[in-house]
Amino acid sequence: MRRRIVAGNWKMYTDLASATSLAEMIREGFNQSSSVDVLLCPPTPFLLPVGERLEGSGIALGAQNLYYKKEGAFTGEIAPQMLRSVGCTYAIVGHSERRTIFGESDYDVKMKVNAAIDHKLRPIICVGETEGEREEEMTYKVLNRQIREAFDGIFKEEATSCVVAYEPVWAIGTGKTATPEIAQEAHRFIRELLVSKYDQVTADNISILYGGSVKPTNAQELFAQPDIDGGLIGGASLSSQDFLTIIDAA
Ligand code: 13P
Repeated sequence: MRRRIVAGNWKMYTDLASATSLAEMIREGFNQSSSVDVLLCPPTPFLLPVGERLEGSGIALGAQNLYYKKEGAFTGEIAPQMLRSVGCTYAIVGHSERRTIFGESDYDVKMKVNAAIDHKLRPIICVGETEGEREEEMTYKVLNRQIREAFDGIFKEEATSCVVAYEPVWAIGTGKTATPEIAQEAHRFIRELLVSKYDQVTADNISILYGGSVKPTNAQELFAQPDIDGGLIGGASLSSQDFLTIIDAA
């Protein structure tokens, strides 16, 4: 059966000193016998020092992005095996900030998911509609397209190493969380898409996380929904206390 996962996406926050001390505080407060899989995704320059602080803690390391080529003249990009070599086992792919600010396409996302799997990195595939798309009742059309593209070329046996994160763009960093009902409905829909692409057993083994203004105050009711298997946490993951409370809620 699928696992509960709580991931901290630090985005472009922290510096070397605050990143390592945040990792140490989370490590100290984390209960190793927890049944929740926990990972931290610091900014790229801090992957190695944060990874060192997490060694033996049971907390995994994830990248916020990757490029899909093995190597080459791609200034500024990071290859999957580079991430593996510094200890990453997860990589966030297709975050809405990458899609909207940096113009990442569904094609890029698909290539990155495939590259991640080829290099034994578990992709956390982000999907979600904008406010305008929700108002125009396009939510399910958008989710359908994003999921179909991201899983294109992914075999059933590989699909369960993928994690999906439903992050409605209008809820990210806005303090405007989706209600548990709205989130559950979207998660259910995503699960059904995975059932139709693969089968029930496979879909039941893929963790679907919710992201968008998850806080200690709302985590519990979100995680109580049957198809919400944890969270991808932005702002609240920068406070060890808030992040640890959210892990407890999962
Ligand atoms: P916030 O939790 O800050 O809304 O960010 C969510 C997110 O984008 C995580 O990837």
